[in-house]
Order: sequence, then structure tokens, then C-alpha cells
Amino acid sequence: MAKEITIQLNDESLKVPSGITVKKALQLSGYKVTKFPEKEGLFVPCEVGGCWSCAVLIDGEPKPACRTLVRDGLHINTSLPEKHPPKRIIHGFTGHPVGGVGTPWRLKRVHTYIEVACFAAGCNFRCPQCQNWDITYNGKSRPMPPSEAAERLTVARKKFSVDRMAISGGESTLNRAWLIGYVRTLKSLNLDVDARIHIDTNGSILTKDYIDELIDAGMTDIGIDLKGCTTESFMRITAVKERGLAALYLSTAWKAVRYLAERYNDLIFTGVGIPYNAKLISLDEIGLIGKKLYEIDPKIQVCALDYRPEFKRFDLQKPSYDEMEEVHNVLKDAGLKTVICQTDRGHIGP
Ligand code: FES
Repeated sequence: MAKEITIQLNDESLKVPSGITVKKALQLSGYKVTKFPEKEGLFVPCEVGGCWSCAVLIDGEPKPACRTLVRDGLHINTSLPEKHPPKRIIHGFTGHPVGGVGTPWRLKRVHTYIEVACFAAGCNFRCPQCQNWDITYNGKSRPMPPSEAAERLTVARKKFSVDRMAISGGESTLNRAWLIGYVRTLKSLNLDVDARIHIDTNGSILTKDYIDELIDAGMTDIGIDLKGCTTESFMRITAVKERGLAALYLSTAWKAVRYLAERYNDLIFTGVGIPYNAKLISLDEIGLIGKKLYEIDPKIQVCALDYRPEFKRFDLQKPSYDEMEEVHNVLKDAGLKTVICQTDRGHIGP
């Protein structure tokens, strides 16, 4: 049986087993911990120490509750004072020659840097075929406030002589206070009309009010990855195991695409990403996705990504050019006007 220790939680003494995380200690004390942002409780979406959404004050310093272990005499305060800006682990800050799902197709044909990008650590998904897993699941680097990330990307913009500044991941939206602060600061440092602020996201927690806040802060372009249109495919692709949560994430992402198309079509560039690998999703489901997107907006840019053997899925085979051409045909047959397919021979254009 684990030894018991005493910690201070918001000035109350609490006995907990040694060797557990602060998150677990909070749960044992009856504190609510969530995987979807709610008004009450602590949002703990990534659990790798990357997003810092779960930061609480530990012995006077903000630290992620999901990765910090308790010890005897530890002081935890669940409300972060104003003087502590949100923090997050961010990598990259360099030129990007391809762009992301939210990059307009006409720019992808330029054979030079399209944008500068940074990558946020932490994700609420566990996609076994993740192509960016070394950044996504790295919770060890130094976290930075929004201002530092915005300043570094602004410097990179000048260095690479581009107008587009992107954040991808990992999942960029997990720490809302951080992302809003980052977009606002980036906007204030790049007031010229050519500056574009691009966010790539899985859309899983992107509610209407969050979208409104991002646009008010300065976001101009967004790419949303839709990991299927059935909960089964979504769970297979993302390894989110709780069915109710998976359904909530998937429906939130679809609603975000619809809201952007209906409310912000003239103001914001929206692109949609779709995964394809025959082991993960059927061509019939790709067709259904195409029809659903056509109903939302036939002109929305759709990019099908050939999911490759990476990370934990070396059993997957990279889809062939012919398979991706078939995906392209299925999406075009659904009536979509701008369909791009990533293949081992480059992109198949719209
Ligand atoms: S949930 Fe703790 S750092 Fe992301």
C-alpha cells in the first residue's frame, strides 16, 4: 500500500497517496477534471505536459497538474493569479514551404516558402499514425508566454519574407487563454494589411464563441482536420477511446466548419483536411464526407491527406497515387469545387 503524505490544497490539508500526480490528488479531493472545456473544473486534454491547460499554482509557481508529482508539504492553489500569463511549449519558428490545411491552394503552387510556422506541443488525440509525434508528445521543453511566441514568429516572418504566420501542432487550440493572447499579440506586431494569421486545428473544442474570439483577436485563415464523419472511424483514427467524448469532439469539429462557412465566409479563409488510408476509413465514408461538405459549401477547399506509416503504425501502407486519385474523384463527384490530394508524387490539384 502506498505511503500517505499531507499536501495543502487551497489552504486545506489533505492526505493523499505518495507518487501520484497533482491531477490525481485534485480528483481524489473531489475536484472535477475534464477532457472537454467546461465552466467548472480543470481542463486536462493532453496529459503530456505540453499544452499547460491544466496549470495550477504549485508551491507558488504555475506547473502542469498532469505531470507534476505530489510530495509531502506541497502547496497547490487551483486559481492562477493574474500576474502569471498562460504558458505553453512551442517549437519551430521557421519557414514552411508547403503550408497546411488552411493554406489556400493558389499559394501551394509557389515553389518557395509560403509561410512561417510554429508547432504547439500537446494534443487531446492519440492518432497512432501521427506525423508530428516528436513535437506533439514532448512535454519537456521550456514553456513560453504568448508574447514570446508571437515575437519569435514575427522575427521569422521578416527573415523568410512571407506574409503568412501559422500555428499548428500538436493541437493548437487546447490552451484557449494562451492562443487568444498569442493571436492578439501577433496581430499587434503585424498591423500591415498583408499579414495573415493562420491556425491549423482538429476543431474538436472549437465552439462558436471560441471561433468568434479568435477572429476578434486577429485570425484570418483556419484549417480544420475532420477525422471522419462516423464515430467509429474517428475513434480508429484518433485513438480517443471514450465513445461519448469522441462523438462530442467529432460533432464540435463539424459544427465549427459549418459555423465558419455560414458566418464568416467572406472574412476568413477556411480549409478542411480529410484523412485517407484504406485501413482507417472507407471510400464510401469519404464520399459521405464530400456530400456533407458540399451541403455546407461546395466551394470550401478540401485537402485529402495520405496517411502514412509513422509513429506507432508501421503496419500501414502509404496510399498509392492511384488510390489518392480515386479519393480525388469521389470528392469531386460529390460536387466539391476545390479538392486537393496529397500523394507521393506531390499534390493532385483541384
Ligand atoms: S493537460 Fe496537462 S499539459 Fe496538457
